This record gives sequence, structure tokens and C-alpha cells, in this order.
Amino acid sequence: MAFEMALIRRAAAVEVLLRRLLDDRALSGEITRPDRLMAAMRHGVLNGGKRLRPFLVMESAALFSADGEAALRVAAALECVHCYSLIHDDLPAMDDDDLRRGLPTVHKAFDEATAILAGDALLTLAFDIIADEATALPAERRATLVLALARAAGGGGMVGGQKLDLEAEQAPPDEAGIIRLQAMKTGALIRFACEAGALVAGAPAEDRERLAEFGSAIGLAFQLADDLLDLTADASQMGKATGKDAAAGKATLVALHGANWARSQLHGLVDQAHELLAPYGEQAALLKEAATFVATRNN
Ligand code: IPE
Ligand code: IPE
Ligand code: MG
Ligand code: MG
Ligand code: MG
Repeated sequence: MAFEMALIRRAAAVEVLLRRLLDDRALSGEITRPDRLMAAMRHGVLNGGKRLRPFLVMESAALFSADGEAALRVAAALECVHCYSLIHDDLPAMDDDDLRRGLPTVHKAFDEATAILAGDALLTLAFDIIADEATALPAERRATLVLALARAAGGGGMVGGQKLDLEAEQAPPDEAGIIRLQAMKTGALIRFACEAGALVAGAPAEDRERLAEFGSAIGLAFQLADDLLDLTADASQMGKATGKDAAAGKATLVALHGANWARSQLHGLVDQAHELLAPYGEQAALLKEAATFVATRNN
């Protein structure tokens, strides 16, 4: 319960900031922000996601008593990358989905070219947000965050994972291959979310590593739950089409081992995640609840 309230509160805060960042007004150094592009970006961002990644950034930052305002901006930046990844994931050339977060996908509400460009601009905006002096952290810490996000989002992270995911439709990978592609396509951004709190705080390397490992465990759990929900939930519950993985012959652990195996695997990952946070005691209570939520969520 405490977790659900906290998630709602954090989501509201990040949405206020995202709305401001996606304003039509051009910033210094920009020339103009085209109306239809900005409208598409807002459609892809301000459409009621769970905002789990921002929550993880803000809660992991709070664990180390980091600057809350700076953490909020990093959280917004990460959500921009996540939303861009969803806009592109839904394109006809990728998963070809019409529904996202209960609304038409960006290419349906606008058009394909605008959806591609909205994604591009959101990715760029993410780095703008972190690098901007309004993220009131020492310049070196901002640079560390930019680098960590770039590594998590790019060809060796989320985008690379998306590529492996598409290739897997042709040549199904073995279990280790599936785990690796999921650690990239979904895990990398969730790992960054957890690690980012330690980075914002300038916490010791040991804490950064521990939070990153926590992020890896819940990242894997997150995609496992997503794949399970694709099999068991319906579109009205999820706000997106379901039953598509099996139809597309997607390589998932659920397809390989079945739903019961996946459920017991989820328990193991949550235990592992909780153990990683044991050194922080009660301070980490909400992050622990987040791990449980990731595995047991129903949307
Ligand atoms: C969906 O992520 C995409 C995956 C990585 C499986 P979320 O389930 O966090 O989507 P939103 O942000 O709440 O819509
Ligand atoms: C998408 O995985 C992961 C990213 C967007 C990077 P999915 O394709 O399973 O996500 P959904 O089910 O469309 O949300
Ligand atoms: Mg996909
Ligand atoms: Mg998809
Ligand atoms: Mg899915």
C-alpha cells in the first residue's frame, strides 16, 4: 500500500516536470519546436504509464539522501528514453501495435514519420535534460550520468536488445541468449534507473554496483512478468495488445519453459533483489516493495 501511494506521488511529480519539458517554447540554442512534432512527443509521454523507472531513480536516490530535484530530472530523462523506445517498438516495422497505454500508438494518432521523429527527439531531449545546468549537480556527475544512460540505451544496451529480439523471431536463441537479449532490451534501462540514484548522490562504487545488480534482477523479472502477462492478460487490462508473443514466435522464457516455471523464477528473482538491499535495512523498504510489484503486477 505504501508502495502504491509512493508510486502515484512520484508519477505525479515526474509528469509535472515532463509536461514542462515538452512545452512548445524553444529553448536557448533551439530555433523552433514544430507543433505537430511536440504534440506527438506529448502523446507518447503524457499518456499514463506506470512511471516505474522514474520511481526507481527517485527512490534509489532517496536511499543515499541525494538531491531530490536533480533525481527528479534524471527520472524524467529516463522516462523520455523509455517512451521513445515504446514509440519505436510499436512501429509497423517492429511490433506493429495500434494500442499503447490504452490509447492509439503515436504512429496511429499521427503518422509513421512523425512517430519516428518524436522518438528521435525524445532520445535527444533525455541527454539535454541531464546535461542542463538546471540539473543541479557537479558537472562531472552529470557527465557520468550521461555516459551511463548512453551505454544503457544504445547499441550495446536497449537498442541492441531490440535488434536481438527481432533477430530471435528468425533464429530462436537458447536460454542464455534469451536472458542476454532481455537484459539488454528491458534490463539495461531498469538497471540504469536503480544505479542512477547512487550516481546522483555520488555514492561509493560499492553502492552503485549493488544498486545496479538490484536493477538487473528486477529488470529480468520485469520482462518475465511482461511475457507472462502477454500470455495471460487481456488488452483492456494491459492497455496494449496481448497474445502477440506466441503469435509472432517471440523467443521468451515463458515460451521456452511455460508459465509455472516463470512464476517460480519470479519468486527467486524477487528474493535475490530483496537480499541485495538487506544492508540498507528499513530505508530500502519501498524499493523492496517495488521488486515485489514488478513480479506480481497485473498491468
Ligand atoms: C513496457 O514497459 C515495455 C517493456 C519493457 C516490457 P512498462 O510496462 O513499464 O510500460 P509503461 O511505461 O507502464 O507503459
Ligand atoms: C519492448 O518489449 C522493450 C522495449 C520497448 C525496449 P516488448 O515489445 O515486449 O514491450 P511491449 O509488450 O510492446 O510493451
Ligand atoms: Mg518488442
Ligand atoms: Mg512491443
Ligand atoms: Mg511485451
